[in-house]
Amino acid sequence: MGLIASNNKYDYLGGITMTGLPFEFSEYHQRQARLFDELPPSSIVIIPTNPQSTRSNDVNYRYRASSYMLYLCGWSEPEGIFVAIHEDSGWDTCLYVQPRDTKSEIWEGIRIGVEGASEGWPVSRSSSIENIGETLPGMLANANDIFAISGLNSNIDVLLDGINILDPRKVIDKHRVFKSPLEIDIMRQSAELASSAHIEAMTKSYGGIGEWEIQSIIEGYFIKHRSQWSYQSIVGGGDNATILHYNRNSSVINDGDLVLVDAGCEINGYASDITRTWPVNGIFSEAQREIYELVLKAELAGIEACQAGSSWHSMHKATSEVLSEGLVELGILDCSIDEAMGSDFDGPYRNYFMHGTGHFLGLDVHDVGGGRDGDEDRGPELKPGMVVTVEPGLYFGSWRNDISIPARYSGIGVRIEDDVLITDNGPVVLTACCPKLINEIESLVGNHW
Ligand code: GLY
Ligand code: MN
Ligand code: MN
Repeated sequence: MGLIASNNKYDYLGGITMTGLPFEFSEYHQRQARLFDELPPSSIVIIPTNPQSTRSNDVNYRYRASSYMLYLCGWSEPEGIFVAIHEDSGWDTCLYVQPRDTKSEIWEGIRIGVEGASEGWPVSRSSSIENIGETLPGMLANANDIFAISGLNSNIDVLLDGINILDPRKVIDKHRVFKSPLEIDIMRQSAELASSAHIEAMTKSYGGIGEWEIQSIIEGYFIKHRSQWSYQSIVGGGDNATILHYNRNSSVINDGDLVLVDAGCEINGYASDITRTWPVNGIFSEAQREIYELVLKAELAGIEACQAGSSWHSMHKATSEVLSEGLVELGILDCSIDEAMGSDFDGPYRNYFMHGTGHFLGLDVHDVGGGRDGDEDRGPELKPGMVVTVEPGLYFGSWRNDISIPARYSGIGVRIEDDVLITDNGPVVLTACCPKLINEIESLVGNHW
């Protein structure tokens, strides 16, 4: 099956912007049915898409639809609202969309419109978004339970004001976390494209290259292949690699420094998320090699822990044990391995590894399913069909004045991140084609010149 459903005639709007449907209707109908099956009779579901965000006067950020909208019906234009109502005859689904309007289309592009939405999208019918103020109040009055996402569409929020609403995301997330074979196909493509972009950047690196140049090689590669970044690329040379969310990408990378590149792309809404760290001149120093090998060992242990039936924490435990042991062996921590790790993964090894080992991956880079601080489920069980990242790191910022940074490792930051599919037969690394062994990296970096 091609990525664009053959019953959709609107793929002429394709290209970088995702406007065609990546799946056949049956995939969306199954997703909708899984949600509806868990809702009480006479419920209504209201899912608005993301609002447009202004960047500066008259200039918007590039539009990205909400992942819940993409998941349930694939609608990627702005202003859509997916509404489903349970009636005696079953579930009726309606997509409220911007109507065709030549005056707006001259500026913003041709809209799919009401007729196009009802013909080419997996809903019972469609309607103009201009009608929702008239039709929704009646539907709300007849519904027993109202499942709605608030905070995205001010018109909907006004209509829901004072009404007791339930959150449909809890039900959707339980299913969204499991990727279907068709979703896994797309995620594999996303992982492979991002891997190729990292390889391209490795081959074109040299001492003195700008972080922004590596960013442009990677993001240019995404665009050339009709993709785009799934999050802002992090390209940090030397000490900048020790800033976890660094994305200024504005420094020259000195010969002899490592560069940490955390960059992934999006295909049909599905993200990849890869980090590789390499010596910009192609040769690891002894100290860089020691830290790199330790992080790699931890990452491989984390991947090995991604077994169906294991808990989320087993992945974090695996990387934490390796890193704690290594930090003691390298003399960076002067204590026992148990003390380094702490009774609740809270020992001094966290001075150098401050983030989680991974997260779920899918339509969102940090996808639904739990596992992170603040999530309802901090320790979900890993099950086949889930896709996670494994991304341990060690960071020795020379700028830190709160902890002791050994001179030998000062200015080194290393993270290695892969995307991993959980299966009954063990972990499958979707980003396996992105090199991470020291000899592979050393022979690739600078190879272009
Ligand atoms: N690139 C974001 C992350 O690794 O979580
Ligand atoms: Mn990640
Ligand atoms: Mn990442």
